[in-house]
Amino acid sequence: MSTFKAPKGTYDLLPPESAKFLAVREAIAAPLRNSGYGYIETPGFENVELFARGVGESTDIVTKEMYVFETKGGDRLALRPETTAPVLRAVLEANLHKAGNLPVKVWYSGSQYRYERPQKGRYRHFSQVGAEAIGAEDPALDAELIILADQSYRALGLRNFRILLNSLGDQECRPVYRAALQDFLRGLDLDEDTLRRAEINPLRVLDDKRPEVQQQLTDAPLLRDYLCDACKAYHEEVRDLITAAGVVFEDDPKLVRGLDYYTRTTFEFVHDGLGSQSAVGGGGRYDGLSEMIGGPSLPSVGWALGVDRTVLALEAEGIELDIPSATSVYAVPLGEEARRILFAKVTELRKNGVAADFSYGGKGLKAAMKAANRSGARYALVLGERDLADGVVQLKDMESGEQTAIGVNEIVAELESRLG
Ligand code: HAM
Repeated sequence: MSTFKAPKGTYDLLPPESAKFLAVREAIAAPLRNSGYGYIETPGFENVELFARGVGESTDIVTKEMYVFETKGGDRLALRPETTAPVLRAVLEANLHKAGNLPVKVWYSGSQYRYERPQKGRYRHFSQVGAEAIGAEDPALDAELIILADQSYRALGLRNFRILLNSLGDQECRPVYRAALQDFLRGLDLDEDTLRRAEINPLRVLDDKRPEVQQQLTDAPLLRDYLCDACKAYHEEVRDLITAAGVVFEDDPKLVRGLDYYTRTTFEFVHDGLGSQSAVGGGGRYDGLSEMIGGPSLPSVGWALGVDRTVLALEAEGIELDIPSATSVYAVPLGEEARRILFAKVTELRKNGVAADFSYGGKGLKAAMKAANRSGARYALVLGERDLADGVVQLKDMESGEQTAIGVNEIVAELESRLG
């Protein structure tokens, strides 16, 4: 072991387990690529103010969880705790929204950093695949995103997840509700911290997990009853569209998300096999975020799905992804001359798109065949002294155990035809 360990709250993705993470990312990305979303990549760090203004000064993410640092040049940067604000920043900076084709639909995949108390499913470094549709106010767009996330979870074989849906209203109706909720909260028996939160961000109190708080919230006013006509109609349309698509969801009038930029549609994907960190993904509409970071009005909607938690959800449901073995052919040379010949064959196979690996380090037959087995290859190619003299190579079918001698010059074509 080395002197060093992965930092607290982080872990390494190592083969073969890491293949699951790639498969999950791919399963989430595939429906997006298929629906007009283009790939976007932004830096892992941004000006700290982008998150303070975008995610919200009073959120846990900004006040407690950001990795903030000052560069030698004096810039105050933060490792990204989320990627919605960075994506919008990038779109505005490149003027993609002015190219005349709104919404700008993009997807991303990458690391996020939050200084949280680590536990199962909650890490300080984790990975998300996200999608953002920027610059259009259309319930069909909200519906599209919810349907696509549902589709990717189903494609992975997940069944025990639920979609929670809510509307957080807009600048017109939310302030009225906020005031009513604050009035209600002031009359409760709450500790000082919570009372302070009620003054700064009363909606967050609804999200308090403590039973003694939840008990007092049963009669809390609900935003649902305060939505203005426009928000109500918008929400109904989203509900109708996803229902028509056959996507099952639950109305959750107390669903509040941990980021301040949300307006109207908000949703969360929760998995019932994950314990307390049950949210596998979440998102919603953020119609005011562009203005909050200095841009024009660009109503937008998006989500991010947590890759780490999705992998945990697969494990909780006992789902084995059908990940094809990376290697199809494993070459086992016995001796110097055989090594040169087989190495050339492996190179040729790879050039022709056949996944091939090679026994390195001069292993003997037994150890090399063990390695061939472990690689998951369908075929092993063994070239020994006698084969060399005969101008053949032994082709072993690792499934049936059957072995055939094939001319050295025919082997590449033979493997290509066998592997289709
Ligand atoms: P979020 O709900 O903060 O939303 O994160 C989305 C997902 O990332 C969560 O549902 C969870 O699966 C995963 N996640 C969050 N924190 C952790 C953690 N500490 N450890 C492991 N996984 C975690 C956002 O990030 C928004 N930017 C989503 C969005 C996109 N809204 C609109 N567009």
